[in-house]
Amino acid sequence: MPKVSMTVNDKTVSSDIEERTLLVQFLRENLMLTGTHVGCDTSQCGACVVHVNGLAMKSCTLLALQLESQNVTTIEGIAPSAAELHPMQEAFRENHGLQCGFCTPGMIMTAIDIVRRKGNDLDDHTIREELDGNICRCTGYHNIVKSVAAGAKAMAC
Ligand code: FES
Ligand code: FES
Repeated sequence: MPKVSMTVNDKTVSSDIEERTLLVQFLRENLMLTGTHVGCDTSQCGACVVHVNGLAMKSCTLLALQLESQNVTTIEGIAPSAAELHPMQEAFRENHGLQCGFCTPGMIMTAIDIVRRKGNDLDDHTIREELDGNICRCTGYHNIVKSVAAGAKAMAC
């Protein structure tokens, strides 16, 4: 089996894997980073979004071997410390941006990427358009949009 090495949440990891192993499988099954979810088998739901070299990507669409020597951040790697949430996580908590929470890691990883690309002052239309690739089956989106707007502002501080 080929070996893959990459940086995940600031730690170098390497493992022997089958060629067909998806990044999301590698994260969940080899590294036990189960905050990255699988919500579909059609690359539509966005529950699996992580950051690859700082950009949001659906980890179910990438082979782990493609990530050789690359930098991956998962939901487990965004908080500044074990005692403190990332401002976007805090905004989802404060604004009731989740119900069952299944979509939330992907929403938050996408939201952080939106802020990086679009800035800290986001209107509802932009947020809804940018969240196009993330599906929530519970909330009706209103509080997610509110959370992303609040998190974006908080990330500026
Ligand atoms: Fe990747 Fe649904 S699991 S988009
Ligand atoms: Fe349940 Fe979004 S909070 S799927």
